[in-house]
Amino acid sequence: MSTPNTTHKRLIEWVNGWRQLCQPNGVYWCNGSSQEYQNMLDTAVKEGLAIKLNEKKRPNCYLFRSDPSDVARVENRTFIASERQEDAGPTNNWIDPKELKATMTELYRGCMRGRMMYVIPFSMGPIGSPIAKIGVEITDSPYVVANMHIMTRVGTKVLEALGDDGEFVPAMHSVGKPLAPGESDNGLWPCAPLDKKYISHFPETREIWSYGSGYGGNALLGKKCLALRIASVQARDEGWLAEHMLILKLTNPQGKVKYITGAFPSACGKTNLAMLIPTIPGWKVETIGDDIAWMKFGKDGRLYAINPEYGFFGVAPYTSMESNPNAMRSVEKDTIFTNVGLTEDKDIWWEGIGYAAPGKLIDWKGREWDPKTATEPAAHPNSRFTAKASNCPAIAPEWENPAGVPISAFLFGGRRPSTVPLVHQSFNWNHGVFIGSIVGSEVTAAALDLKTGTVRRDPFAMLPFCGYHMGDYFAHWIKIGRKTNPENLPKIFYVNWFRKNAEGKWLWPGYGENSRVLKWVFERCDGTGKAVETPIGYMPTVDAIDRSGIENIVSDADIKELLTVDKQGWLKEIELIKEHYAKFGNHLPAELSAELAELGKRLSKI
Ligand code: OXD
Ligand code: MN
Repeated sequence: MSTPNTTHKRLIEWVNGWRQLCQPNGVYWCNGSSQEYQNMLDTAVKEGLAIKLNEKKRPNCYLFRSDPSDVARVENRTFIASERQEDAGPTNNWIDPKELKATMTELYRGCMRGRMMYVIPFSMGPIGSPIAKIGVEITDSPYVVANMHIMTRVGTKVLEALGDDGEFVPAMHSVGKPLAPGESDNGLWPCAPLDKKYISHFPETREIWSYGSGYGGNALLGKKCLALRIASVQARDEGWLAEHMLILKLTNPQGKVKYITGAFPSACGKTNLAMLIPTIPGWKVETIGDDIAWMKFGKDGRLYAINPEYGFFGVAPYTSMESNPNAMRSVEKDTIFTNVGLTEDKDIWWEGIGYAAPGKLIDWKGREWDPKTATEPAAHPNSRFTAKASNCPAIAPEWENPAGVPISAFLFGGRRPSTVPLVHQSFNWNHGVFIGSIVGSEVTAAALDLKTGTVRRDPFAMLPFCGYHMGDYFAHWIKIGRKTNPENLPKIFYVNWFRKNAEGKWLWPGYGENSRVLKWVFERCDGTGKAVETPIGYMPTVDAIDRSGIENIVSDADIKELLTVDKQGWLKEIELIKEHYAKFGNHLPAELSAELAELGKRLSKI
């Protein structure tokens, strides 16, 4: 139990209201101290919900195993409850806000019995930054409190910034598993059944109500719920951008710097790109953020980005010293792992970690797992690490600059084995918005309720994260382009690391070699990089992509194939884009239909 370190009346009343409804054992106001963080983990260990890892091998690290039904974001239980259904648009689930609140109020009634209610004041973005926003999360999960300590800036310093009357986004969360007198979790991850889970957003009132899940984006409400779904609505109303984008700093051999953001659908290697180690001599990448960018215009008319987060909630499988050494170093200490395998000497292991399992393990379901006989993976495909950004060796010194960093380029990309070339650049802003609007990717394991292996359109990688009508969101992007001088706007590129040849072989090695594409992007922003005009946009000339040292991996024929316009492929793509666009009805900006028509015309001429 603790008393609020605040005189913010609305906040105190809001907390008291939920306390009466949820009936917890007590209320604890989080102060953000390291002692508090430790207490949360000690509580979880005592309840059998967490295992402390080998202190010598992985200091200050813990492993949690969730319920097998609670392993990822649940998109079909995620709701945008705007006043009017039309405002949620065709890509979001909608329930009337009054009805949804009535249903959820009954679920919340008594839902924290036998548990503590934690109040977490948190800041998305450096405290005091003009781009940052404050939220307050109520939760009954010590796992959530500990993760929020890593993923956001939490505690008393946030309450101080909030003052007596500051604005905050109220974010309510419960795992939805009250305890009977004398009952404890006893090693079982608490959550509610799928049909009782609700991840709800009320865009007009900027509220978040989450019930029934303890996992990731469903429960750490600062991330997808606040920093994307609610913030996208705020950004629309206030004239800025809240995007599902990494932010990286790229330095050339002469020491010249450019900042680049990139939107890629979930599990497409955003974290790897944000922490990339270039293979070309003299070039350097440093990380500002790996998942979310908030961008506002500066006085000079350029867009400045901050990373609203404080840590990384990364996908563990296939993270290795080869694919992402900086992520591997970030998780050497102070990390929370969820649903990975456990070795006999209490270290972690996952598929694709870069070495064979060192003997028998305990898998993510808590069962014995023998590498010789296993038929299922030891780590869940969406198992995660929660790691401090400050532990990342590649973190840029200015990553917490409250003013943000000026952005020179936006990258869009997805997993496209065919049609889309290695890289192309938009002719102008509206054409770039068109490119963002047609992003698509193969479905992966980050979302629980989608069939893997199919391709879905994921415009701007925001499909699961846009808090309003996607057609209106496109229109917002068009509008942003009119707010400043065209030369102040970031240049827009479509990249595709995942192109395959007719035999199904990857044409591009990816990972650190992607720096070769970044180099061309840098040069284009500098007005150098050689390009040819094609029907789909500017493409590098074959010699403009630096292949020194990898000519035997990417042959002349490969790079030609990577950089050709596949006319038949694009003509088919146009038909698919028409189907995709049809969903948005009269909310689709005329500028985008015009871009599609122009693309068709340009293609017909080759
Ligand atoms: C994430 C996601 O967890 O996009 O970042 O699913
Ligand atoms: Mn993401």
